[in-house]
Amino acid sequence: MPLTKEQNDLLTRVENGAPMGEMIRQHYWIPAIPTVKLVANGRPIRVRLLGSNYVAFRATDGTAGVIDESCPHRKTSLLLGRNEENGLRCIYHGWKLNTAGEVTEAPNYPGDQEQFCKKLRVNRYAVREQSGIVWVWLGKGETPPPFPDLPFNTLPDGHTAVTTQEVPTNWVQGVEATVDTTHVSFLHSSTVMVTAGPQGNQRVHMTTSRAPKLEFEDRPYGYRYAAIRKLPDGQHYVRVNNFVMPWYGVICAPDKGANAMVFFSVPVDDTHHRAWFVPFNPDRPLGMTSWSLITDNWNFPPLPPGTPDNNWGQDRELMNRGHFSGFPQHLATEDFSVFLGQGPIYDRTDEQLCSADTAVIRMRQCLLKAVGEFVEGKVPYLASNPDLDYQQVISIGGLVSDEAAWRDIVPAD
Ligand code: FES
Ligand SMILES: [Fe+2]
Repeated sequence: MPLTKEQNDLLTRVENGAPMGEMIRQHYWIPAIPTVKLVANGRPIRVRLLGSNYVAFRATDGTAGVIDESCPHRKTSLLLGRNEENGLRCIYHGWKLNTAGEVTEAPNYPGDQEQFCKKLRVNRYAVREQSGIVWVWLGKGETPPPFPDLPFNTLPDGHTAVTTQEVPTNWVQGVEATVDTTHVSFLHSSTVMVTAGPQGNQRVHMTTSRAPKLEFEDRPYGYRYAAIRKLPDGQHYVRVNNFVMPWYGVICAPDKGANAMVFFSVPVDDTHHRAWFVPFNPDRPLGMTSWSLITDNWNFPPLPPGTPDNNWGQDRELMNRGHFSGFPQHLATEDFSVFLGQGPIYDRTDEQLCSADTAVIRMRQCLLKAVGEFVEGKVPYLASNPDLDYQQVISIGGLVSDEAAWRDIVPAD
């Protein structure tokens, strides 16, 4: 069923106190910026999340901080600040803030500095660095929510890579693609063939069997689902992937021992999101891969090269030569093009869904249920519950003899 306008607003809007934005702010850790972007004593960088601006910086001792962009004094931007000995000094009147957001010096105040600084109101945000990402908790109170110890988030250095790009559309469009297995058979069909080759990895089955059977299981963090593709030889290619609240798609490796992938689409504001890509391998370091070649992982993969006036730069000539989407830049560029094609905030009141959209529908239901509980003053079940164990989020794929056998290859409760 399509959503009502009210449901669509509730699902998508995150700015200016919108319930979804407040729910995420309070109950989830948010990926803010790749760790490599922050250099000790280097330049501060703006991070926009849930419609508010923050500044990320790394202090002299190596600690990363994410603080409000506006100086607590008279609100000029701390992006202009000087990153000095263990603090960011506002260039307007010299107040200095540490990585926790506390004012440690107010040199234009003539009285007792220490007493004065202690009395100032500031927002303090918990920060953690893991998997090459600076994470922040923007909620109120002293106790952060559980950190998402997903399988990619507990690995040693070298077992993960990370890259991210800001996309000028609402975040839910990104999350929808993350859980939408059938689009791979179409939108990404040429890219899959180019990267895997006809005899390459098992992912090619996704291009030959395009209408998989989907089976779902609710989980304490969201759901997992199996896409089951019957192959001509009678075997079944199954991919069991997970949706983890509020934005993670954990995608299985195309072959045993190959790299798996996590996608997340983080709301920047109502009409922008940041798409994150984290390939990971629990068994071995990634080594030299195409990810190693990325020089700016704050702005990669590329956005489509054009504007709405020229079909976002789609290459029709390449399509004539057989390329399916006309966006050869990157698999993610293909995704970005269809997000842009849906508009800045996709209107879900007039769509016509089919059974292949069940994962998308379920994902929306998870988010709407959580925000409904939040509005009622409860801690959303999927954000925190006794059975929540992010380490149990195992996505796995392979060939099985019969349809039901996928349950044998996933972890038992
Ligand atoms: S505005 Fe920052 S010190 Fe005055
Ligand atoms: Fe995609």
